[in-house]
Amino acid sequence: MMFGMIVTQMGQAAASADRIFEILDAKSDIVDKPNASKLPAVKGDVKFENVTFRYVGGGEPVLKNVSFEVKSGETVALLGATGSGKTSIINLLPRFYDPTEGGITIDGHDLRDVTLDSLRSQIGIVLQETTLFSGTISENIAFGKPEATHAEIESAAKAAAAHDFIMSFPDGYNTHVGERGTTLSGGQKQRVAIARALLLDPRILILDDSTPVWMSPLSRIFRKRLKLL
Ligand SMILES: Nc1ncnc2c1ncn2[C@@H]1O[C@H](COP(=O)(O)OP(=O)(O)OP(=O)(O)O)[C@@H](O)[C@H]1O
Ligand SMILES: [Mg+2]
Repeated sequence: MMFGMIVTQMGQAAASADRIFEILDAKSDIVDKPNASKLPAVKGDVKFENVTFRYVGGGEPVLKNVSFEVKSGETVALLGATGSGKTSIINLLPRFYDPTEGGITIDGHDLRDVTLDSLRSQIGIVLQETTLFSGTISENIAFGKPEATHAEIESAAKAAAAHDFIMSFPDGYNTHVGERGTTLSGGQKQRVAIARALLLDPRILILDDSTPVWMSPLSRIFRKRLKLL
């Protein structure tokens, strides 16, 4: 009887594996240029020049002639109605997509001339939809830097205003979250994700948030540094 079940399961597993490999083998449209150079450690001057962007298959451009500059050390907020293109702007910086027209530079380097690895390793992103993994809070914060010390993890959590609610759980930083653990609220998840990004101490930090600015935890944490565009 068991053998019969195993044979059925193997059939199912083989079908699932096919689909998993299809995804793993999928080629991204965005690839390094043949002679792409390594982006050196940047200061973080970001410049959008006449950027027009439309999604593949989309008709009207989502961004039309967008130009702006963010100097190193500045904290800038983009405000706009839902669907106005904020996330699309953000997606262009780590080159999840390339602009249809115009160009983007960091410290004067055109993004298309540098390798994806050297670009993305200097950008930290907290997405609108945050994902936590099944594991402890501490493991979730240290996701991008598994060798981080507890002191580093705690200091990132404090900066992200997550330390207090983490300590309110009986197991503190060892609280299990995700599929089999404590379920965190949306705002708590977001703060853990912010701590995760801060721990990496990236030169460029991008925070995407759908909450209106006056009630957003992000703007509360970063209010003092915010410059509104
Ligand atoms: N992957 C995609 N393919 C095609 N169109 C898309 C895609 N993602 C977004 N869009 C379209 O691009 C426009 C801008 O979307 P975007 O996600 O940048 O808005 P947003 O300003 O971040 O909105 P919100 O405040 O709701 O997060 C929308 O009209 C949306 O329908
Ligand atoms: Mg968005």
